[in-house]
Amino acid sequence: MRLKQHVIWGQRGSFILAATGSAVGLGNIWKFPYITGENGGGAFVLMYLACILLIGIPIMMGEILMGRRARANPILATAELCETAGASKGWTVIGWMGALAGLVILSFYTVIAGWTLEYVENALTGKFAGLDGESSQRLFDGLLADKGKLLQWHTAFTLMTVAILALGVTRGLESAVRVMMPALFVLLLVLLGYAAVEGEFVTSLRFMFSFNPEDLSWEAALIAMGHSFFTLSLGMGAIMAYGAYMPSNQSVGQTVLMVALLDTLVALVAGVAIFAFVFATPGISPGAGPGLMFVTLPVAFGNMSAGIVIGVIFFVMVILAAWTSTISLLEPGVAYLNERFGLSRILASLLLGAVAWTLGIGSVLSFNDWSDKQFLWGKSYFDSMDFLATNIMLPLGGVLIALFVGWKLRDEHLLHELKFESAALLRWWRPILKYLSPVAVLIVLINGVFPILRGVFVE
Ligand code: PFF
Repeated sequence: MRLKQHVIWGQRGSFILAATGSAVGLGNIWKFPYITGENGGGAFVLMYLACILLIGIPIMMGEILMGRRARANPILATAELCETAGASKGWTVIGWMGALAGLVILSFYTVIAGWTLEYVENALTGKFAGLDGESSQRLFDGLLADKGKLLQWHTAFTLMTVAILALGVTRGLESAVRVMMPALFVLLLVLLGYAAVEGEFVTSLRFMFSFNPEDLSWEAALIAMGHSFFTLSLGMGAIMAYGAYMPSNQSVGQTVLMVALLDTLVALVAGVAIFAFVFATPGISPGAGPGLMFVTLPVAFGNMSAGIVIGVIFFVMVILAAWTSTISLLEPGVAYLNERFGLSRILASLLLGAVAWTLGIGSVLSFNDWSDKQFLWGKSYFDSMDFLATNIMLPLGGVLIALFVGWKLRDEHLLHELKFESAALLRWWRPILKYLSPVAVLIVLINGVFPILRGVFVE
């Protein structure tokens, strides 16, 4: 039962900007470079691209389609589509697990996004001047040790997210992405130009694109696959929620290709730029982990002409990218409370923001007081949340979406949403979604997750 009807975004391009805004985020600029560095470079990039193509793109089409068909938030959308298709109510787990995954991801995402707020301040107050690898590491370690500061920035980013959602679907979400996304692209191009001139550009390209078969492993495949879900915001209903606001006369296939292409381009450009700076900075390795962006780039910014300006530009860009993602993490839950119970969007976003904020306190502490504590699978609290949501919940949600759209929805349900697609796309998409995507996800999940779980239970 729903109390409220959805609005539809009127302005052309709003859906693409919003979906790209959700997709492009810390996953592209912060996470992709460091997990590529940790997993060997080229081979990892290849596995990641294969996952985007064979799993990400078909599932994204499925998610948008579900949202637009039902024109409701993911929880109600799955419930309504179960009824339409005569499928078991059990499939509504897609909506519920998705909303939960959104809260879990938001809880640690705002902690990392908070670091970027601190780094804008660092850039503005000249803290990068003359930094070398060691002093930059010290600056970063100092921030991680200061839990009060981490909590303050985590709170700030959560409130920034709540503010946009509280403003509503048109005045909040749509206006935000229309301003922030073009700004982000301009800033990224400035950065790329700078890296090409000042960084070790060719070494970086070689690192990102030279393939080394020894680097292939199930664990790396799992990380690549989990990341393909994370970076495209798939498997948890964020894209489904936005799909509900997408006008009916837009092609789903073309839109998805555009979003996936933009997202991949941003990740590759950010990776090439960041590694160009890494290789130009003595004493820093590409496998430096989560600190990669926060340790290497300030050294580069601190030692170049116009470093303050470029530094501020860079971290503001990351803030915009993260902000347009955090709003999409909370939107499914907010829309649900609003449409199902008539709760105002202000109250709904405050409520869910508070839940995510509370869950995030553990992530704040995992960088200081709890740094030795292990939670799931021998990992820190932060890593546990990330692993659970990214490598388990999102792929599982993705499999369920693929199976539901592939097997449960009938042609007449799908064709209604796919009026503008080419015959070739239709011929390929359905079998891929029915067979290839779920099987691929399950194989990687089983081979990647089981050894990790077994390792823990055997001990
Ligand atoms: N796609 C975002 C990123 O790459 O940073 C993260 C994300 C946003 C994941 C929204 C999932 C989601 F629903």
